[in-house]
Amino acid sequence: MGMAAIESKESKRLPGLTARQFFPILSKGEKAQLHYLDTAASAQKPAAVIDRITAYLSHEHANIHRGAYSLSANATKAYDNSKLRLARFLGADSEREIIFTKGTTESINLVAHSLENYFSRGDNILISLIEHHSNIVPWQMLARRKGLNLSFCNISPSAEFDLDDYKKKVEELKPKLVAMTHVANSFGTLFPVDKIVDVAHKAGALVLVDAAQSVQHCELDCSRIGADFLAFSGHKFYGPTGIGVLYANSKVHHLMEPFQGGGDMISSVAVEGSAWADFPQRMEAGTPPIAEAIALESAVDFVEGFGLKAIADYEHSLFVKAWELLSKEEGVELYGPATRHGAESGCQVSIISFNLKGVHAHDLSTIADNFNVQIRAGHHCAMPALKHLGIASSARASIGLYSDISDFEALIDAIRAARKMFR
Ligand SMILES: Cc1ncc(COP(=O)(O)O)c(C=O)c1O
Repeated sequence: MGMAAIESKESKRLPGLTARQFFPILSKGEKAQLHYLDTAASAQKPAAVIDRITAYLSHEHANIHRGAYSLSANATKAYDNSKLRLARFLGADSEREIIFTKGTTESINLVAHSLENYFSRGDNILISLIEHHSNIVPWQMLARRKGLNLSFCNISPSAEFDLDDYKKKVEELKPKLVAMTHVANSFGTLFPVDKIVDVAHKAGALVLVDAAQSVQHCELDCSRIGADFLAFSGHKFYGPTGIGVLYANSKVHHLMEPFQGGGDMISSVAVEGSAWADFPQRMEAGTPPIAEAIALESAVDFVEGFGLKAIADYEHSLFVKAWELLSKEEGVELYGPATRHGAESGCQVSIISFNLKGVHAHDLSTIADNFNVQIRAGHHCAMPALKHLGIASSARASIGLYSDISDFEALIDAIRAARKMFR
């Protein structure tokens, strides 16, 4: 349909290679072709990431930060190099600002635990109504433990962030922490993170940005955004499961207590008590996900091979075409205005949430599966947002750099079949 193909450094060397062909699961024969439209839940893995993890586990594995032998020293080096690479990729001041976790969920829980002594009874935390459960529940648990108040700023009936309500609540509540998503996984709402950080910092609040749905779609620069914390998951970024990142600005390290105790996070342990290792090691107790951390560096290489600007531009043009196709389809109700999505706003949103009249999202998803189309259906771990908009569930199609218009054409075939079936 006339869309320019997306190219990486490697595909420029190997003309004709499509982005999809870097992904073993997506490059089966024509008939077995998956139309994977659930990247927001988890991205597929390129061969480079799979090969790196296999090579590490086959030939390079030892525990890190411990052994005096070269196998361990080399594994340590590879793990630390990955952290360095992540720091550069995110525009952090140094690798001391990068903590490896299991994923976004653990990153947010880590912050909620580590800041316990920063809060006093009656303090306020401000989040939004459209957060993923992993940016709601850890704060509810902290609020219960410490006697804090958790408040939610509004979203509009079309699922947009209400900046005026946010400003009003920051002024009224003087929150000690603001925790907001960058892109909402449920309806693809793009949050104005720069403004959010600016308003919060002027009011003296710390800010956490949940970048789980943005880091793979737009150029993020932590020093420019200025947030105190930023979290994301490796598996949504074409990397392995079991590895996540927490960026913590060095200015806030003194506020953070260790999250868990154990090996590797101490400088000394005695019967009388223990002393902590430096940052970020004090936040990584126990043996970390070594293979996954190392393969995450390959995911960064892979993404940078295409370039985030090129990825955002490609995904944007696909998004616009997909939105248009779906909006013309009888009985399809799309959520949120199409205009808010766009590479020109600095970040590409790659999520389309919708319902087909008279067909439950779960049924649509099952029918789509018969067409080899994988879409998500349900509440998308965002129950307060769906309740606020008066929707019980929705179907969600989400784009990755390997997606193309044939995925949406197959989805349209599934929608037509569902419409016939439920007529
Ligand atoms: C916006 C957002 N935040 C947090 C998460 C949680 O990520 P994980 O399950 O990888 O910890 C998700 C996952 O879908 C998400 O979309």
